[in-house]
Amino acid sequence: MLVMSQGIPENIVDEIRQRTDLVELVGDYLKLERRGKNMVGLCPFHSEKTPSFTVSPEKQLFHCFGCGASGNVFSFVMQLDNLSFPEAARLLAGRAGVRIPEHKSYSPGADDLKENIYRVNNLAARFYVYCLKNTDSGKNALEYLQKRGIEQEIIEQFNLGYAPNDWVGFLKLAQKKGVSPELMVKAGLVSPGREKGYYDRFRNRIIFPIYDISGKIAGFGGRLLSEGGKEGPKYLNSPETPVFDKGSILFGLNLAREAIRREKKAVVMEGYTDVVTAYQAGIKNAVASLGTSLTKTQARHLKSQADVVVTAYDSDAAGEAATWRGLTILQSTGCIVRVADLPEGSDPDDYIRKKGAGSFIEIINNARPLMDYRLSQLKKRFDLSSDKERMDYTEELMNILLTAVNHIEQDYYLKISAEELGVDEDALRSELKKRRRRGTRYHEAGKTELPEKNQKINIRPAEKILISLMLQSKEIAEQGRSHLQLDFIEDLRVREIIEAIFEHTSSETLAGADKLLDRFEDPQVTNLITEAVTDPSLQELQPQTAKRMTEDCINQLYQVWAKRKQRELQKKLKELELQGSDEQIEELLREHQHLLGRKDGSS
Ligand code: UTP
Ligand code: MN
Repeated sequence: MLVMSQGIPENIVDEIRQRTDLVELVGDYLKLERRGKNMVGLCPFHSEKTPSFTVSPEKQLFHCFGCGASGNVFSFVMQLDNLSFPEAARLLAGRAGVRIPEHKSYSPGADDLKENIYRVNNLAARFYVYCLKNTDSGKNALEYLQKRGIEQEIIEQFNLGYAPNDWVGFLKLAQKKGVSPELMVKAGLVSPGREKGYYDRFRNRIIFPIYDISGKIAGFGGRLLSEGGKEGPKYLNSPETPVFDKGSILFGLNLAREAIRREKKAVVMEGYTDVVTAYQAGIKNAVASLGTSLTKTQARHLKSQADVVVTAYDSDAAGEAATWRGLTILQSTGCIVRVADLPEGSDPDDYIRKKGAGSFIEIINNARPLMDYRLSQLKKRFDLSSDKERMDYTEELMNILLTAVNHIEQDYYLKISAEELGVDEDALRSELKKRRRRGTRYHEAGKTELPEKNQKINIRPAEKILISLMLQSKEIAEQGRSHLQLDFIEDLRVREIIEAIFEHTSSETLAGADKLLDRFEDPQVTNLITEAVTDPSLQELQPQTAKRMTEDCINQLYQVWAKRKQRELQKKLKELELQGSDEQIEELLREHQHLLGRKDGSS
């Protein structure tokens, strides 16, 4: 069998690595200067004024002495663009002119299906564009777009189209091109009929293709030409498919990425038309989430390009708990979050068309810090002259203060709030402390923080190797699952990572590190995972070698665990000899015996 690095043959990974020069790659993103043997520049992973980001041309590794980011060519693009290892490898392969062959042996079929869905999506997008431009019914749609003030050039840039009012328009065309209806169903473009046959999902709608981060069409959004009809919801999106995961895609990011990176600022809106209109008005750093509140994955995409994220939601949505949750998630990735105050009842699209881009930009520039905005929204809901309401208000106030990014922010708003409430600042502070101890941070997300959050993860080399190997091969993950006991691992966060890998293993698909990362908020944990996956010394192992290493690691962890247990038992034994009964001693010895009986990690 070929050795695979998460689906890509080892020799190809090697070729990509050999043909990619880290200095050149990094040079595409930031300015590097020579310093001795190394090159240095301003770190793209944290903001700094003096360069501490160091690239070693000789070792082909980078390290930031400011934030600790480090890795090789793969981890550089993985971290910068939030890509999984295979995605990063594909990106670099394209850049270096290396062809990644189709492969069959690893998670057979899964990648082929994805590729096929992308292909059908492309066909569909071309069909919709054709219908918009060249058919009679398309004229209506084009007029609609013109009436909304959307120009030809923008229609083309966003690749907008029109799905005709026909039950089998796309179905027939695609079938003629040899696409099976089953595949069209998997792509979410047609649905099986109740009795027989299939029919088009999108009918009589303006089509907004939705691109993923690598620029491929992952799905579609379709808007009715007229509202209030019987043709279903105003906007209909593709269902979730193997390539369309609503929670990880942002509409418009493919076009906005450059501007976001340049300005270090992104504007998040609610609707497709908001983004399109903003783009046309020259606000090119706008994206939209797809009808849901922001997820962690989306937040990470934004964070990788922007320092500041301004939300420009419709004012009705700004009050919803789901919105706050999304924004708190965004903040917890390290973004500075600001909230733009749009007049009630208008969205960015309306506003820009009525008041112009300049006025909208001003609103964006005047956006208030999330905490500020939340507190003022909160205050509106209570009558502070009533004692009962003041209590309720204080309660909610503290929950919000607990989501502050740091103590400075928390203290700042705590002072203001105490003054407004006319209560003692220290009293409020000690109440807050009590709550923090109870672990109610990120209250609304319903999550409690791990107490040791800021403590350094105490990972042993064997554990790191295991994580790396298990993430690269399903066989190894299974080997790990059947021989490694979670008890062997002392650090709780390391244990959690391994547990998560085991869970994925039992669900038949080996999840890449990208999926795994979604489960963790702690940057220490995610760093550890990316570092382990990209560890250059563990990339191209022969299956036999990987298997043996796994055995060795497990055995080593077992030995340490067993020694500790033995020490514990001996200590107990001594205690019992002084004060315990013979029975107790015997029982303990039995346990001891069992422990000594196990010689390695494989029984
Ligand atoms: P809005 O209802 O605010 O629409 O939905 P809009 O963006 O102002 O659109 P226009 O101006 O009337 O054309 C905002 C977003 O919520 C999702 C879509 O992603 C939409 O862009 N949505 C809305 C749906 O998914 N389904 C719906 O039925 C409505
Ligand atoms: Mn609108």
